[in-house]
Amino acid sequence: MTVAVLPGDGIGPEVAAEALRVLDALGIAHSEHAFGGNAILERGTPLPDETLSACREAAAVLLGAVGLPELEGRQVRPEQGLLRLRKELGVYANFRPAQAGDIDMVIVRELVGGLYYGERGTREDGTVYDTCEYTPAQVERIARRAFELARARGERLTSVDKVNVLATSRLWRDVVTEIASEYPDVPLEHALVDSFAMTIVQAPETIDVVVTENTFGDILSDVAAAVTGGLGLAASASLSDDGPGIFEPVHGSAPQLAGRGIANPAAMLRSTALLLRHGLARPDDADALENAVATALAEAPTPDLGGRATTRELGDAVLHALGRSLTV
Ligand code: NAD
Ligand code: IPM
Ligand code: MN
Repeated sequence: MTVAVLPGDGIGPEVAAEALRVLDALGIAHSEHAFGGNAILERGTPLPDETLSACREAAAVLLGAVGLPELEGRQVRPEQGLLRLRKELGVYANFRPAQAGDIDMVIVRELVGGLYYGERGTREDGTVYDTCEYTPAQVERIARRAFELARARGERLTSVDKVNVLATSRLWRDVVTEIASEYPDVPLEHALVDSFAMTIVQAPETIDVVVTENTFGDILSDVAAAVTGGLGLAASASLSDDGPGIFEPVHGSAPQLAGRGIANPAAMLRSTALLLRHGLARPDDADALENAVATALAEAPTPDLGGRATTRELGDAVLHALGRSLTV
């Protein structure tokens, strides 16, 4: 069983190169596959068949980032490949931890439903529409994952919606409330997404586990990253019930940084740690890598953190710290 690595576009391949060095150091087999904008330019599709089958057969998928400015707004876009890959692998549960100082939250984002996957189109009069749909079963399964996580952490769960406006939020709140009866030991509260965004900014240390729908989770997880050191640090794990998970930073291809060798690889390396823990059942290696990243960030911070280290230099510091811990 190998790890399928999809470096992608922009800073994706730059941060993925550091993750590949870590996989090598740990003796983990991997293969690389075309995905995203580069795949569109070379093969006309963001998700070539060969890439999809390699992902299905892999123990886990490690993804850099996709997105090319020159393809924005085109008929065929890199992001479509990512959405299709998530759907094909059924990775409905996206865990986005955000930690720093006394802040320690996890946003559990529904990943294969809602506005991203609803019907869309153009009417004769020129109206363009996207639609948001959720089935009760889709809400149930993500709610259970979030309650399980909150229970394991001994914390409370906050479900975030827009029940004062949206029908899908009414369903969301009803289903989460119903599932709560299976978890009497987990305190549940509901919050409206607009004021909850403010809570993330103003009182992030009061937040434990959050569960929310796809679009809200996308936006709130960037806000959570912003209050805990920025996108250069934010990792994520996207899991199904059985098959391979996708492990990817919260950030994108950051075109302004691409090619300069100064992107922070920490988000990618922390995503690699999540892959070790949840995709390969190697919790000790995951702990060692997370500790090595923390040590390296203190020793060799990149420019987004106010330092001067390059992507490679931070990667070097991680490998050194990891090497020390593996030989102890
Ligand atoms: P982005 O996350 O790529 O970058 C936003 C800003 O965050 C950057 O300009 C940079 O200042 C900072 N940043 C991000 N990652 C960093 C890192 N590793 N080190 C240091 N600083 C970092 O978001 P965007 O600019 O809105 O989107 C660019 C492209 O990425 C778009 O095409 C978008 O669709 C795509 N995207 C892809 C993914 C993904 O593949 N998972 C995720 C988000 C965005
Ligand atoms: C993310 C990204 C993606 C999303 C885009 C690139 C499709 O922003 O993973 O957060 O919106 O899910
Ligand atoms: Mn996003």
